[in-house]
Amino acid sequence: MDQFWETFVEKYWDKVPGVFEDVSAIDLSEDDIFEGFRRCFAKIVKSESVAGLASLYIERSTALQPDFTSFIPPDSCNLREYIALVTERLNGRRFGINIHQFHRHQPKAWGPMLEFVRPLFGRIGIPSDRVESAVFFGNYRTTPFGIHRDIGNSVFTFPVLGKKRFLAWPPGHFEQNPLSIYFHPQPSDHAEGSLVLDGAKGNMIFWPRNWMHVAHDDVDAPHAAFSVGTWSEATSNNRLLELARHSIEKMGNDTRLPAGVAMDGRVPDELLGAIAAFEKRVQDGTFRAEALESWKARIDNLGFTVLPAEVAE
Ligand SMILES: [Fe+2]
Repeated sequence: MDQFWETFVEKYWDKVPGVFEDVSAIDLSEDDIFEGFRRCFAKIVKSESVAGLASLYIERSTALQPDFTSFIPPDSCNLREYIALVTERLNGRRFGINIHQFHRHQPKAWGPMLEFVRPLFGRIGIPSDRVESAVFFGNYRTTPFGIHRDIGNSVFTFPVLGKKRFLAWPPGHFEQNPLSIYFHPQPSDHAEGSLVLDGAKGNMIFWPRNWMHVAHDDVDAPHAAFSVGTWSEATSNNRLLELARHSIEKMGNDTRLPAGVAMDGRVPDELLGAIAAFEKRVQDGTFRAEALESWKARIDNLGFTVLPAEVAE
């Protein structure tokens, strides 16, 4: 594997996309994916919202977050049956589901994912923004939000069910005519100059940060893939905000402000109290100590900011 990463960093990282064979580091089955999805869905039902947990897309629907109740998985079905069933419920419309931070719901993904990124990050460093996992599945032909780029995010995708095809374009490809992806959202209209990345179970598909990309296939078939996103663009103030938020969350003593606050600009006593409490933590070194500890945790977790244990089952 060491030789693999040596070559990968030299030839692909921050350079070009590629499809790799026999990268079995993260080997999740269809059932593992569906089990994680079920757990995620139990949380959606409990909180009565998909916020932060998943995104649901229905083809030819303008609503980006449709009512989740149409997607509730019945007890006895597997991933393939579920995809067929939802499409039936949607009167034949194709759909897609994106599960955020999949390892929160499927702990089986966590260990292998750390072991997967460790040798890479040993060479290029831990991404300064964050690392996350996701699952995309359904029977959509084209990524529901179309050709796009994720600034700073280099992505590794592991197909689990069916074939997965991505089209990718170098970062500057649409610079001359940036609106063309909206006027002509069909990926096949931009075939010229694109790289076609085809993968199935056992493959790893990679594209570097800032490359334009889209999942697209002309055939109707169920598909599922697990992905690891490595976000490596951050600023010192981004990180400081995060550290301050952690410290403030630890402060406790959160007091409710009056429902209506004075029009004369007087600062409510509750807020003045919180400012004083935070000021004290900065002055007596508590904030610095917490910030360093929190940074250490970030490094120990190889840049993953959401851990499996954070979400109670
Ligand atoms: Fe993307």
